[in-house]
Amino acid sequence: MSDVVLSCRGLKKTYQGPAPVHVLLNVDLEVRAGERVAIMGRSGSGKSTLLHLLGGLDFATEGVVVVQGRALNEMSEKERGNTRNRTLGFVYQFHHLLPEFTAEENVAMPLWIRRMDRGTALAKARAALKEVGLAARAAHLPGELSGGERQRCAFARAMVTAPACVLADEPTGNLDTQTADEVFEAMVRLSNAHGTAFVLVTHDAALAARTERVLELKDGALHPA
Ligand SMILES: Nc1ncnc2c1ncn2[C@@H]1O[C@H](COP(=O)(O)OP(=O)(O)OP(=O)(O)O)[C@@H](O)[C@H]1O
Ligand SMILES: [Mg+2]
Repeated sequence: MSDVVLSCRGLKKTYQGPAPVHVLLNVDLEVRAGERVAIMGRSGSGKSTLLHLLGGLDFATEGVVVVQGRALNEMSEKERGNTRNRTLGFVYQFHHLLPEFTAEENVAMPLWIRRMDRGTALAKARAALKEVGLAARAAHLPGELSGGERQRCAFARAMVTAPACVLADEPTGNLDTQTADEVFEAMVRLSNAHGTAFVLVTHDAALAARTERVLELKDGALHPA
């Protein structure tokens, strides 16, 4: 069996509107189990668009995304939802934490969706928060966290299910160098322990250089950086 967890071929995305925006022209990517891939590129080059397509949060204009051997666009809405929950973890550029739930409840959410019992899920959530240095903030609401703390909380939420692949959109964007380093180390531990692959969008060249593969999104396609 191939160890490719996530791939896309000939991916094209045009945003329709008064003036159509041709963001992705032809994107090919293969991500293998445990691999860490960094995607860099200018603001507006289409990095978030690409992650959304890879995560099944939006549809491509042309081309296919294959997650663990199955094309996302051939799945029913329900199957796609299950795949997102069971196979992928997503860290959004803007954290999307639920404001009325505490940090640990937010992190436990993907486990509750999988019908894990409340106590076990909360224990796993606290362990994930500890991994990103947030053990002391587990009972805080998102509104009581700093920007970087919210980002780390969102990262813990993406990691808590030990998914096959985490798609992370600038997960260290608001963090100081040392904290960014801690988040990166948590990522390395997870990929070593569970074979979790990471696709990491970042503007931080030093961080990108620590991944196995650095790609640049430019003129609608990925190029080796
Ligand atoms: N829903 C939309 N409708 C129309 N155009 C869009 C839409 N979303 C994004 N765009 C445009 O597509 C282009 C790519 O956007 P995207 O958010 O993918 O860029 P990015 O590489 O993530 O940038 P940044 O580094 O600033 O986050 C931008 O020019 C943006 O204006
Ligand atoms: Mg973006």
